[in-house]
Amino acid sequence: MPFSKITGVGAYVPATVVTNDDLAQIMDTSDAWIQERTGIQERRFFEYGTDTVASMAAAASRVALDRAGLQAADVDFIVFATITSDYYFPGDGVLLQRELGLAGIGALDIKNQCSGFIYALSVADQFVRSGMYRTVLVVGAEIQSTFLNKSTEGRNIAVIFGDGAGAVVLQATDSDEHRILSTHLHADGRYAEELYVKGPGGSRPGRWLSEEALSDGSREVVMNGSAVFKHAIQRFPEVIQEALDANGLTVADVDLLVPHQANLRISEYVRQKMGLPEEKVINNIQRYGNTTAASIPIALAEAWESGRLEPGQLVCLAAFGSGFTWASALIRW
Ligand code: ACO
Repeated sequence: MPFSKITGVGAYVPATVVTNDDLAQIMDTSDAWIQERTGIQERRFFEYGTDTVASMAAAASRVALDRAGLQAADVDFIVFATITSDYYFPGDGVLLQRELGLAGIGALDIKNQCSGFIYALSVADQFVRSGMYRTVLVVGAEIQSTFLNKSTEGRNIAVIFGDGAGAVVLQATDSDEHRILSTHLHADGRYAEELYVKGPGGSRPGRWLSEEALSDGSREVVMNGSAVFKHAIQRFPEVIQEALDANGLTVADVDLLVPHQANLRISEYVRQKMGLPEEKVINNIQRYGNTTAASIPIALAEAWESGRLEPGQLVCLAAFGSGFTWASALIRW
């Protein structure tokens, strides 16, 4: 039975940089407040007419494929994680497939919020390990700047999120030395409404995008910040430990933790609770904000570019997000 190995990683972020001071021009907030609560200094917002979720995903995918030494035509299957697809339906899997000129191959969409990329990676890993596909493109991409309420009313959410895309190429390998060791997926739907956007949803009276539906607040992001924080700092360490236990490893064996970039305070708490030194944890939320399904592959791409990913290293990916969902992946790079 083959294993799967990440052979290429790529990212794309829009050119437009939005600083905390820029946000303070349009809402009652401050650089100091945002940095203290989230660690974020700036984020990217997409450029209308230049970027789409699919185009950003394609750009990230091309970099990942190039680094893997592959052509787009080598891809057998696409797994695409996003909560902000370009269309309500179809999902972005088919749009990315079209951008890459891959008509005919299967494309699967994953909607698991901040855990979406690890869910997507896990699905791809199972496809490769079962022998069904040999080369799978796994993508996380988001344009969230359009759902943010960029006024004082929406400031608690608007300052956190940004746009971007990341992709990895997963390939079959017969060597058990460099591979995904295991993935671990969890969810608890009892907390679905602690971080959610209600509309547009199917189960409502009348037409789903009626005037009433647009004005009743149901399109706003609702977040119980303290509940998210409380659950996140419990689930992150738990799911990292689960991955280590499953492989007979300990925290001391971890070379690099790449957490979903939820909030610097959350990552710092997790790092300290796990007893990991700063240099073993990737944080880039300062520059991109929280890019939901894109945050882990963007962070991985930066780690690749800066030479922080070396063969043989033990790399742990971990995420927590809306749903609640949480997940981890342990990789022998
Ligand atoms: N600028 C200035 N003031 C603000 C802002 C802002 N952007 N946002 C909220 N405030 C104000 C509030 O109005 C409130 O004022 P009040 O006391 O006069 O009512 C005060 O700051 C505190 O507001 P809270 O919402 O209670 O802010 P809190 O201190 O909890 O910080 C935060 C918000 C940073 C989101 C916090 O709840 C947190 O860290 N939550 C963890 C969850 C998280 O990070 N979620 C994002 C990622 S989701 C994910 O990826 C899983």
